[in-house]
Order: sequence, then C-alpha cells, then structure tokens
Amino acid sequence: MDTEGLYAEYVNTSFVKSVEPVVVDRALGATIYAADGTECLDLFAGISVVNVGHCNPRVVTAAREQMERLIHAASYVYHVPAVGQLAEKLAEITPGRLKKTFFCNSGAEAVEGAMRLAKAYTGRSEFVALQASFHGRTNATLSVTGNSARKTRGGPYLPGVAFAPAPNPYRCRFCSGCCTLACADSVEDVFKYQTSGDVAAFIAEPVMGEGGIIVPHSDYFRRVKEILDRYGALFIADEVQSGFGRTGAMFAIEHYGVEPDIIAMAKGIANGFPLGAFTAPPEVADSFRPGEHLSTFGGNPVSCAAGLATIEVLQEDRLPERAAELGSWCKAALEELARNLPLIGDIRGIGLMIGVELVLDRETRQPAPSEAAEVRRYCRERGVLVGVGGQDGNVVRIQPPLVIEREDLERALDVLGGALQAVAVSSAGAAH
Ligand SMILES: Cc1ncc(COP(=O)(O)O)c(C=O)c1O
Repeated sequence: MDTEGLYAEYVNTSFVKSVEPVVVDRALGATIYAADGTECLDLFAGISVVNVGHCNPRVVTAAREQMERLIHAASYVYHVPAVGQLAEKLAEITPGRLKKTFFCNSGAEAVEGAMRLAKAYTGRSEFVALQASFHGRTNATLSVTGNSARKTRGGPYLPGVAFAPAPNPYRCRFCSGCCTLACADSVEDVFKYQTSGDVAAFIAEPVMGEGGIIVPHSDYFRRVKEILDRYGALFIADEVQSGFGRTGAMFAIEHYGVEPDIIAMAKGIANGFPLGAFTAPPEVADSFRPGEHLSTFGGNPVSCAAGLATIEVLQEDRLPERAAELGSWCKAALEELARNLPLIGDIRGIGLMIGVELVLDRETRQPAPSEAAEVRRYCRERGVLVGVGGQDGNVVRIQPPLVIEREDLERALDVLGGALQAVAVSSAGAAH
C-alpha cells in the first residue's frame, strides 16, 4: 500500500482535507523534497517549528551524538548534562528574572503545566484568557482557548475561566481610528465582573498565531500588566508559536518591554524534536511540591541536546535579526501587491510571523475564508506551502524557516501574488 493508502486506512487524523498533503521523502532548510520527485518551498515551517531550517546539520549532529550516549532518562532518577545546559541557556535567553525550567513534551503540556504552577504559587484557581486565542488541545488548554471552532464536542470545560476581547487592531470593537487601548482596559472589567477576583493568571499569546497573526498594540501588555499587578494575578506568556526568533526577537514579549511571570514554550525550541517547557522565577518555580508535577518523557536528552544546538544556531547566525529584516521586506512586498488587490484587507505581523487577511469587501471587512483556502490550494499546486488560520479561516499565514534564502522567499511571494490575483479575479467573477 502506498503512503496515502496507509494514512487513509490506519492513521487516525482529524485533518481538514482541503489541501492535498505532500508525501515527503526528505527536507532541508526551507525545501521539502516530495516522494514523487517534486520540490516545495515551505512557508509554514511545520506550523512554525523548524525555525533553524529542516534537518539543520548542527541540530542533527547534536541529537545524533546524544542519541549514541543516552536516549531516555526519567528526570527524577537520572540527571543528564544536556538537560541542565538547556535549562541554563533558557535562563539566559528568557527575559528578566525567569530562571527555572520544567520540561515536558508539547505546547499544550507546557501551557497546562504553567497553569498548574500559577495555581500552586498563588493558591488561586481562576484564569483570564483572550477571545480568539489558542493554547492547545488538552481539556485545560481548550478551556482557556477562545475559539469555539477548536472546542466543539470536547466539553464540558473548566469552570473559572473568563475571556477578554482579543486585542485585534483590524477588528477592534472599541476604537475606530485612534487607539485608546480600551481592549487592555477591558481586561479589568473582566476581572471585576466575570471572576471572583481570585485569578491565578492571565494567559495570552504575545502575537496570536492560530487566531490569525494578531499583533496587539505596543502598549497593550504594559497596560494589562498594571491591572494584573493590582489583582495579584500572574502573567503567563504563551510563546509556543511566537518564540525562538520568529518575531525578530528571541521571544515576542520582548517587543512589549514586559516581563511575564511564566513563559510557556514548545514548537521552535528544539527545531522539530518533541519538547515543551515552562520557565519561571525561582520563587514561582519552587512552588511545586516534590512529586506534584512530572513527565516520563519530559526533558528527553535527545530533544534537549537538539534544543541547545537550536538556540546556539539562532544566536550565532543572528536569526532573529534575519527574521526582522526578511519580515520587513516581505511585508513591504505584500503591501505593494495589496494596492491593486481589494481582496487583501490587512497585512500584519512581526518578523517572519506574517498574516494576510482576506476580505470580500474592504469597507465591511467581511471575511473571505473560501478565497484563503483557494489561495493555499493554488500555492500548493505550484510548490509553495502556506498556512491558513484566523477565527474565520481567512488569514493566509507566512511563517517560513528563518533561514529561508531571500531568493526563495521572493520566488514564493511571486507564487502567492499569482494566487491572490487569480483568486481575486475568480471571486469577483462569481460575485457578478
Ligand atoms: C500559541 C500556542 N500554544 C499552544 C499550542 C499547542 O501546542 P502543541 O500542538 O505542541 O500541543 C499551539 C499550537 O499550535 C500554539 O500555537
């Protein structure tokens, strides 16, 4: 049976089947080599994971060397140099006083562990989260996810979770034109009117990925942090998608000059090796009692060795800076394209975390989800992989490996431009 047949018959997935999957032979950098001999440029990096490029040779070597020495060691029985070294490195690159790391296996586990740590530290149990957020697919992380489309048929969810409006400048409910940061102030209303006041933490993605690459105003988190301090609630920054250089800084929250109490990480941390982590200042981290939180595979030595090598590559090759430069160039190119394409309602993002929001009408901003799906299909057929997301499924996502060559990005944007033009024409034709 071929790979497609095996998947259809034996692999339990709940993928949306709108795009034909690529049967992959191998991948390197930003290029995927398909089993049928064709090549694809990867503008989605395995959902924002392989930041230092597919099969980065330095990461592969570090993992192989670790694999030949020791593959598994339950963290409470053995201590492994790579694990300690990665924790030390995370203390160096995370903002401010964040220092001690708990290792797990995935983004959802990192967020759920961070929530538990916040409860243990504060002795409180409620959370405030954001509408249009995404934090994972376990019960607790879906409970703080503000998107009903991700939550269908999984409830009931945890009590004690309240949602504040998404800080979405393009679809702001509060201001038209000049921003007054009313969305940040509304977080206080949520504390006052929708919780008991005993909130353990506010949890947010500094740049909202699955919600459609929403970039909050530059003062948003500063204003929110003032509210949190008044209520004694912690700030958990979910950097699972926005971390590790993607936005032009090691962590997206650095753009906001605010120090979170806990950062949750995964995806880019080990460039594709399964690893999640959350880091906190010592007094917060130490509030777990012995045996209270544990993971058999968490802090796997091979993943940790890969993580250490990944961060070294990010630092030595100055990849966050590269993301910032390429991202600015990319946004400018897209803005040029948008001048004659009313299908493009908004272009936004920081670094190489870019969203192109498609609308049927620039005045009403009516979302254009079918058009976004069509753009993705058109690109896929021409060897370019892009993502699609957003609350309404109308945002094309550009999140390539940060090592992508400028010429490859230019070539991919040409294809994306062709896709947007073709889809705009057929959408306008269908409307008449
Ligand atoms: C911001 C954010 N948090 C958490 C998760 C969940 O990560 P995982 O799929 O590794 O559980 C994701 C995944 O897309 C994410 O984007």
